[in-house]
Amino acid sequence: MTAFWDHHYADFNEDSPSPFCTKVAADLLLPTDSVVELGCGNGRDGLALVRRADFYTGVDLSANAIQSAGERFLGARIATQRYSLTVGDFSKVNFATLEASRLVVYSRFSLHADSEVAENALLDHLAEYDLGPILVCIEARTIFDELYEQGELIERNTYMTDHYRRFIVPDEFKEKVDRRFTVNSFEVERGFAPYGSEDPIVMRVVFSGKS
Ligand SMILES: C[S@@+](CC[C@H](N)C(=O)[O-])C[C@H]1O[C@@H](n2cnc3c(N)ncnc32)[C@H](O)[C@@H]1O
Repeated sequence: MTAFWDHHYADFNEDSPSPFCTKVAADLLLPTDSVVELGCGNGRDGLALVRRADFYTGVDLSANAIQSAGERFLGARIATQRYSLTVGDFSKVNFATLEASRLVVYSRFSLHADSEVAENALLDHLAEYDLGPILVCIEARTIFDELYEQGELIERNTYMTDHYRRFIVPDEFKEKVDRRFTVNSFEVERGFAPYGSEDPIVMRVVFSGKS
């Protein structure tokens, strides 16, 4: 899995922030927030997020992705004390080490890039966070995607083409989140993540700690 993303990010020059990032940055972020991006890729969203927040942490399994994100942040002259970029697994992040007036956890197209075991571990860690307010913003592929069932079936709803994709069942994910968090918004629609000729039905979920 990491080999694919390392290869991908050795030569991937997408610069613009995603529509999801643009919306989160404009509608939800506060300048005092600390943002953690899970599966940050080359930092194209990270750069927009760090500009709207107090501190940004980008985590990705791919060392090439993190290197590319680092070059992007340096090129944009973001002060190095305002961010941290780490090669790591989002299902193992220790959120309790992150001090913030509010922690915003952002994941765009990374949740479906790993297993349901990783997803469950992540939700457990998020639910354990008790240092203050937390807001989680996720965009991910779903079983309603045209790419669903393309490639070799390797686990439930999970297919391998040149890389791994686990297509999420939106209602099941929402149920899991509902048990431990307050769901602020839940949308499953086309038009959120157009890319070339593709316009998949994707899921956007925003949730916060139970009050
Ligand atoms: C489809 S890319 C999305 C990248 C970026 N969020 C974007 O929208 O441009 C998925 C990313 O998730 C990363 N990833 C997959 N599983 C991960 C995990 N368990 N921990 C951290 N990163 C992971 C991959 O290395 C890859 O960079």
